[in-house]
Amino acid sequence: MSPFALTRALPADATAAALRADVAAGLTREPKQLPPKWFYDARGSELFDQITRLPAYYPTRAEREILLVRAADIAAATGARTLVELGSGSSEKTRHLIRALTALDHYVPVDVSESALDGAARALLADHPGLSVHALVADFQQGLALPATPGPRLLAFLGSTIGNLLPPERAVFLASVRAALEPGDALLLGTDLVKDERVLVRAYDDPEGVTAAFNKNVLTVIDRELGADFDPGGFDHVAFWDPEHEWIEMRLRARSAVTVKIPALDLAVAFEAGEELRTEVSAKFRRAGVRAELAAAGMELTHWWTDHADRFALCLAVPVPVPAPSPGAGPGGK
Ligand code: AVJ
Repeated sequence: MSPFALTRALPADATAAALRADVAAGLTREPKQLPPKWFYDARGSELFDQITRLPAYYPTRAEREILLVRAADIAAATGARTLVELGSGSSEKTRHLIRALTALDHYVPVDVSESALDGAARALLADHPGLSVHALVADFQQGLALPATPGPRLLAFLGSTIGNLLPPERAVFLASVRAALEPGDALLLGTDLVKDERVLVRAYDDPEGVTAAFNKNVLTVIDRELGADFDPGGFDHVAFWDPEHEWIEMRLRARSAVTVKIPALDLAVAFEAGEELRTEVSAKFRRAGVRAELAAAGMELTHWWTDHADRFALCLAVPVPVPAPSPGAGPGGK
């Protein structure tokens, strides 16, 4: 049996259609907005990689610290034979986990980028010849149809990527995670925590300007994919802390009035001088809120680990058993 399989759960043209729909909807509403997933073409992924190494961008290092310190605890608490990683990207942080999970024999990386999956799987297989890898090209927001692999399974969603979803999207996503979990399985979730506003804003507006370039890259993606004529230099990068929602917003602010043509959508979009386009929400969390969101989705928080400076948390959650209907109760009962 081959130790590597790849399943495409995304039709080849799904991404293009989704980009068109998101741009058409997001640039014709007030205020204008785009979902953050469109940052990540090859250039955007490279810029994000650079961000994770910036002194100001602490989340990646904080999460790596927790993974290193707690890997054995995670292994003991889960006994996982299958590791499913959502939004696996380069699977860099996962290596620590894979090394620690002594019972592991199956790895299921899930990502929208087939090239990222392919590269990561090759590197992992070279280091862990005993592991079977079943890569899944899928959008985790479209529901989770996971390959049948032996349990217990550990589903990992790292990097605080959950913070890029809006609260209603998080509820839908967590419900789909819950539906994919069987008794004995667990969720390992990474969440960036609420902290001093200056620390947060600096992490999203670094002095080197890498995050600004990452933010503006979404305009380059739209220019290339949809034939638009955005001038990225005509927009300023903005990182804004919203204390009410407890999230960072990245925005692009038009330096002057401009009308952008998007031929593939037969659309012209007018920006007033100073008008802002929201390109990302990055929510920051507290333990009570994470516990409540997990509970609302039918999961119970069992472990909560933070880095030495309490900047970031990794938590484990397990599915709460759905009570068997008592005889005679419930709909249809007499
Ligand atoms: C994809 C969740 C890791 O929200 O912090 C980094 C993306 N945006 N800098 C985040 C991001 C700006 C990032 N994650």
